[in-house]
Amino acid sequence: MKKGTFTLTMIKPVAVKEHHVGDILSHIEHAGFRIIALKMTQMPKEKAEVFYEEHKDKPFFNELVTFMKSGPVVAAILEKENAVADFRKLIGSTDPVEAEEGTIRKMFAKSKTHNAIHGSDSDENAMREAWFFFSEMEQFS
Ligand code: TYD
Ligand code: MG
Repeated sequence: MKKGTFTLTMIKPVAVKEHHVGDILSHIEHAGFRIIALKMTQMPKEKAEVFYEEHKDKPFFNELVTFMKSGPVVAAILEKENAVADFRKLIGSTDPVEAEEGTIRKMFAKSKTHNAIHGSDSDENAMREAWFFFSEMEQFS
């Protein structure tokens, strides 16, 4: 995959439990993103800690890891021009209270921690996170 052409998303455990996977994927596809990898998986504690290692010294780290390992997530690689920035716009602010109307977090997030969906914050992290979840055989770029 070429850097700058994709982002990595994860539908978080709360949204999977509440049956929002179909609605969220539909929203993403209608916004012009192409799904080029997709899986449901549950992260053990150690994996969740690695995925979020940049936050390991933050006060919310333990709560975040506990939530992220609590149930399956749906991970996907999404292809689009300007994917990282456009996807961050589509999902909205981290805290749903601050998220704009019509964003995925505004529609489906329960709280700042239980905020329904992840989106990579840079092309470097998109690359790291895509290879975290998907092998070469699972990437259809
Ligand atoms: P962050 O990378 O700051 O947000 P984003 O997902 O929008 O890039 O934080 C990672 C996750 O950590 C965030 O999605 C939810 C959780 N989190 C909290 O639980 N409390 C907080 O105060 C923050 C900033 C994040
Ligand atoms: Mg982030």
